Amino acid sequence: MNSMVRNIEKATTTPTVSAESFRGAMRHLAGGVSVITAGQGPDISGMTVTSVTSLAVEPATLVVSVNRQSSSWPRISELGAFGVNILGADHAEIAKRFSGVGGLKGAARFEGAEWATLVTGVPLLSGAPVALDCEVEHVVERHSHMLVIGRVLDVLVSDGKGGLSYWQGQYIPHHPGKDASNVAGEDVPTARALWGV
Ligand SMILES: Cc1cc2nc3c(=O)[nH]c(=O)nc-3n(C[C@H](O)[C@H](O)[C@H](O)COP(=O)(O)O)c2cc1C
Repeated sequence: MNSMVRNIEKATTTPTVSAESFRGAMRHLAGGVSVITAGQGPDISGMTVTSVTSLAVEPATLVVSVNRQSSSWPRISELGAFGVNILGADHAEIAKRFSGVGGLKGAARFEGAEWATLVTGVPLLSGAPVALDCEVEHVVERHSHMLVIGRVLDVLVSDGKGGLSYWQGQYIPHHPGKDASNVAGEDVPTARALWGV
Protein backbone atom coordinates (compact mmCIF):
# COMPACT_ATOMS: atom_id res chain seq x y z
CA MET A 1 0.00 0.00 0.00
CA ASN A 2 1.14 3.55 -0.68
CA SER A 3 2.89 4.74 2.49
CA MET A 4 1.34 8.20 2.06
CA VAL A 5 -2.10 6.69 2.67
CA ARG A 6 -2.97 7.04 6.34
CA ASN A 7 -4.45 4.00 8.05
CA ILE A 8 -8.00 5.11 8.82
CA GLU A 9 -8.25 2.70 11.79
CA LYS A 10 -5.53 4.76 13.53
CA ALA A 11 -7.03 8.15 12.71
CA THR A 12 -7.12 10.28 15.85
CA THR A 13 -8.10 13.66 14.44
CA THR A 14 -11.20 15.04 16.15
CA PRO A 15 -13.96 15.58 13.57
CA THR A 16 -14.86 19.23 13.15
CA VAL A 17 -17.64 18.78 10.59
CA SER A 18 -21.10 18.27 12.05
CA ALA A 19 -23.64 15.93 10.47
CA GLU A 20 -25.74 18.96 9.56
CA SER A 21 -22.95 20.77 7.76
CA PHE A 22 -21.84 17.58 5.95
CA ARG A 23 -25.44 16.94 4.86
CA GLY A 24 -25.63 20.54 3.59
CA ALA A 25 -22.35 20.14 1.71
CA MET A 26 -23.49 16.93 0.02
CA ARG A 27 -26.67 18.64 -1.25
CA HIS A 28 -24.37 20.23 -3.87
CA LEU A 29 -23.50 16.84 -5.33
CA ALA A 30 -26.04 15.97 -8.04
CA GLY A 31 -26.72 12.24 -7.89
CA GLY A 32 -28.40 9.82 -10.25
CA VAL A 33 -31.47 8.29 -8.61
CA SER A 34 -32.00 4.53 -8.45
CA VAL A 35 -34.27 2.20 -6.54
CA ILE A 36 -32.59 -0.82 -4.97
CA THR A 37 -34.91 -3.83 -4.81
CA ALA A 38 -34.57 -7.00 -2.79
CA GLY A 39 -36.42 -10.20 -1.90
CA GLN A 40 -38.76 -12.40 -3.92
CA GLY A 41 -42.51 -12.97 -4.28
CA PRO A 42 -44.55 -11.16 -1.62
CA ASP A 43 -41.50 -10.76 0.63
CA ILE A 44 -39.99 -7.78 -1.17
CA SER A 45 -38.57 -4.44 -0.19
CA GLY A 46 -36.91 -1.51 -1.88
CA MET A 47 -35.33 1.86 -1.25
CA THR A 48 -34.36 5.00 -3.15
CA VAL A 49 -30.61 5.64 -3.34
CA THR A 50 -28.18 8.03 -4.96
CA SER A 51 -25.06 6.14 -3.90
CA VAL A 52 -24.85 3.67 -6.79
CA THR A 53 -21.62 3.90 -8.72
CA SER A 54 -19.88 1.55 -11.10
CA LEU A 55 -16.83 -0.22 -9.69
CA ALA A 56 -15.33 -2.10 -12.64
CA VAL A 57 -16.33 -3.01 -16.16
CA GLU A 58 -14.63 -6.43 -16.24
CA PRO A 59 -16.12 -8.04 -14.31
CA ALA A 60 -19.23 -5.86 -14.37
CA THR A 61 -19.48 -4.70 -10.77
CA LEU A 62 -21.04 -1.78 -8.93
CA VAL A 63 -21.17 -0.49 -5.38
CA VAL A 64 -24.03 0.97 -3.33
CA SER A 65 -24.09 2.30 0.21
CA VAL A 66 -27.04 0.87 2.18
CA ASN A 67 -28.09 1.93 5.67
CA ARG A 68 -28.03 -1.18 7.86
CA GLN A 69 -31.20 0.06 9.64
CA SER A 70 -33.17 0.18 6.37
CA SER A 71 -35.92 -2.37 5.80
CA SER A 72 -34.16 -3.51 2.59
CA TRP A 73 -30.80 -4.47 4.10
CA PRO A 74 -32.04 -7.74 5.75
CA ARG A 75 -33.60 -8.80 2.41
CA ILE A 76 -30.37 -8.08 0.48
CA SER A 77 -28.38 -9.97 3.08
CA GLU A 78 -30.73 -13.02 3.19
CA LEU A 79 -30.94 -13.62 -0.56
CA GLY A 80 -27.46 -12.34 -1.48
CA ALA A 81 -28.98 -10.47 -4.39
CA PHE A 82 -30.46 -7.10 -5.27
CA GLY A 83 -31.73 -5.09 -8.21
CA VAL A 84 -30.53 -1.64 -9.25
CA ASN A 85 -33.31 0.21 -11.09
CA ILE A 86 -31.91 3.40 -12.60
CA LEU A 87 -34.86 5.78 -12.70
CA GLY A 88 -36.09 7.79 -15.68
CA ALA A 89 -37.47 11.31 -16.12
CA ASP A 90 -41.02 10.24 -15.17
CA HIS A 91 -40.12 8.29 -12.06
CA ALA A 92 -40.04 10.99 -9.35
CA GLU A 93 -43.20 9.54 -7.72
CA ILE A 94 -41.60 6.09 -7.56
CA ALA A 95 -38.47 7.65 -6.02
CA LYS A 96 -40.58 9.37 -3.35
CA ARG A 97 -42.52 6.20 -2.54
CA PHE A 98 -39.33 4.15 -2.14
CA SER A 99 -37.74 6.79 0.09
CA GLY A 100 -40.53 6.26 2.62
CA VAL A 101 -42.72 9.26 1.70
CA GLY A 102 -46.36 8.24 2.28
CA GLY A 103 -45.37 5.68 4.90
CA LEU A 104 -45.66 2.63 2.62
CA LYS A 105 -43.46 -0.37 3.43
CA GLY A 106 -42.44 -3.63 1.77
CA ALA A 107 -44.55 -4.87 -1.16
CA ALA A 108 -46.93 -1.86 -0.95
CA ARG A 109 -44.18 0.36 -2.38
CA PHE A 110 -44.22 -1.72 -5.61
CA GLU A 111 -47.92 -1.21 -6.41
CA GLY A 112 -48.82 0.85 -9.48
CA ALA A 113 -45.73 -0.10 -11.52
CA GLU A 114 -44.79 -3.19 -13.57
CA TRP A 115 -42.03 -5.45 -12.31
CA ALA A 116 -40.13 -8.26 -14.01
CA THR A 117 -37.53 -10.81 -12.88
CA LEU A 118 -34.40 -12.13 -14.58
CA VAL A 119 -31.75 -14.37 -12.97
CA THR A 120 -31.91 -13.79 -9.20
CA GLY A 121 -35.68 -13.33 -8.90
CA VAL A 122 -35.53 -9.84 -7.35
CA PRO A 123 -38.07 -7.37 -8.80
CA LEU A 124 -36.82 -5.19 -11.67
CA LEU A 125 -38.76 -2.12 -12.82
CA SER A 126 -40.01 -2.87 -16.36
CA GLY A 127 -40.07 0.80 -17.45
CA ALA A 128 -36.70 1.77 -15.97
CA PRO A 129 -34.10 3.05 -18.47
CA VAL A 130 -31.89 0.28 -17.10
CA ALA A 131 -32.45 -2.36 -14.43
CA LEU A 132 -29.46 -4.42 -13.29
CA ASP A 133 -29.86 -7.86 -11.70
CA CYS A 134 -27.01 -8.30 -9.20
CA GLU A 135 -25.65 -10.87 -6.79
CA VAL A 136 -23.79 -9.70 -3.70
CA GLU A 137 -20.06 -10.20 -4.20
CA HIS A 138 -18.74 -8.50 -1.06
CA VAL A 139 -19.92 -6.27 1.77
CA VAL A 140 -17.85 -3.73 3.71
CA GLU A 141 -19.38 -2.65 7.04
CA ARG A 142 -18.60 0.95 7.87
CA HIS A 143 -20.32 3.20 10.40
CA SER A 144 -24.11 3.22 9.83
CA HIS A 145 -23.86 1.76 6.31
CA MET A 146 -22.94 -1.34 4.38
CA LEU A 147 -20.95 -0.84 1.20
CA VAL A 148 -22.45 -3.54 -0.98
CA ILE A 149 -20.46 -4.67 -4.02
CA GLY A 150 -22.70 -6.30 -6.60
CA ARG A 151 -21.77 -8.49 -9.55
CA VAL A 152 -24.08 -7.65 -12.46
CA LEU A 153 -25.63 -10.86 -13.82
CA ASP A 154 -28.12 -9.44 -16.30
CA VAL A 155 -29.44 -6.14 -17.64
CA LEU A 156 -32.95 -5.00 -18.66
CA VAL A 157 -32.96 -1.97 -20.98
CA SER A 158 -35.82 0.38 -22.01
CA ASP A 159 -34.30 3.13 -24.13
CA GLY A 160 -35.71 6.68 -24.36
CA LYS A 161 -36.80 7.06 -20.75
CA GLY A 162 -34.43 9.92 -19.88
CA GLY A 163 -32.92 10.15 -16.42
CA LEU A 164 -33.58 11.43 -12.92
CA SER A 165 -31.14 13.18 -10.62
CA TYR A 166 -31.39 14.61 -7.12
CA TRP A 167 -29.79 17.95 -6.35
CA GLN A 168 -30.37 20.49 -3.58
CA GLY A 169 -33.24 18.42 -2.19
CA GLN A 170 -35.14 18.23 -5.48
CA TYR A 171 -35.74 15.59 -8.13
CA ILE A 172 -34.59 16.88 -11.54
CA PRO A 173 -35.86 15.06 -14.66
CA HIS A 174 -33.60 14.77 -17.71
CA HIS A 175 -35.43 14.28 -20.98
CA PRO A 176 -33.70 12.49 -23.87
CA GLY A 177 -32.12 14.82 -26.44
CA LYS A 178 -33.55 18.05 -25.02
CA ASP A 179 -31.62 18.54 -21.77
CA ALA A 180 -28.26 17.27 -23.02
CA SER A 181 -27.99 20.04 -25.62
CA ASN A 182 -29.39 22.68 -23.22
CA VAL A 183 -26.87 21.92 -20.52
CA ALA A 184 -23.77 21.21 -22.56
CA GLY A 185 -24.22 23.64 -25.46
CA GLU A 186 -24.02 22.51 -29.06
CA ASP A 187 -20.25 23.04 -29.40
CA VAL A 188 -19.20 21.08 -26.31
CA PRO A 189 -17.69 17.71 -27.30
CA THR A 190 -19.59 14.71 -26.03
CA ALA A 191 -18.06 12.15 -23.69
CA ARG A 192 -18.19 9.70 -26.59
CA ALA A 193 -16.07 12.03 -28.73
CA LEU A 194 -13.60 12.65 -25.90
CA TRP A 195 -13.22 9.21 -24.34
CA GLY A 196 -14.96 6.87 -26.77
CA VAL A 197 -17.61 5.85 -24.21
C1 LIG B 1 -32.68 11.11 -3.01
C2 LIG B 1 -32.44 10.09 -1.93
C3 LIG B 1 -31.28 9.34 -1.94
C4 LIG B 1 -31.04 8.38 -0.94
N1 LIG B 1 -29.89 7.65 -1.00
C5 LIG B 1 -29.68 6.70 -0.06
C6 LIG B 1 -28.50 5.87 -0.14
O1 LIG B 1 -27.68 5.99 -1.03
N2 LIG B 1 -28.35 4.93 0.82
C7 LIG B 1 -29.25 4.77 1.85
O2 LIG B 1 -29.03 3.89 2.72
N3 LIG B 1 -30.36 5.53 1.95
C8 LIG B 1 -30.60 6.48 1.01
N4 LIG B 1 -31.74 7.25 1.08
C9 LIG B 1 -32.70 7.00 2.15
C10 LIG B 1 -33.61 5.82 1.83
O3 LIG B 1 -34.28 5.94 0.59
C11 LIG B 1 -34.69 5.67 2.93
O4 LIG B 1 -34.10 5.75 4.19
C12 LIG B 1 -35.39 4.36 2.82
O5 LIG B 1 -35.99 4.13 1.59
C13 LIG B 1 -36.50 4.27 3.83
O6 LIG B 1 -36.11 3.33 4.72
P1 LIG B 1 -37.06 2.08 5.02
O7 LIG B 1 -37.07 1.26 3.74
O8 LIG B 1 -36.39 1.40 6.15
O9 LIG B 1 -38.40 2.65 5.33
C14 LIG B 1 -31.99 8.20 0.10
C15 LIG B 1 -33.16 8.97 0.11
C16 LIG B 1 -33.39 9.91 -0.89
C17 LIG B 1 -34.66 10.72 -0.87
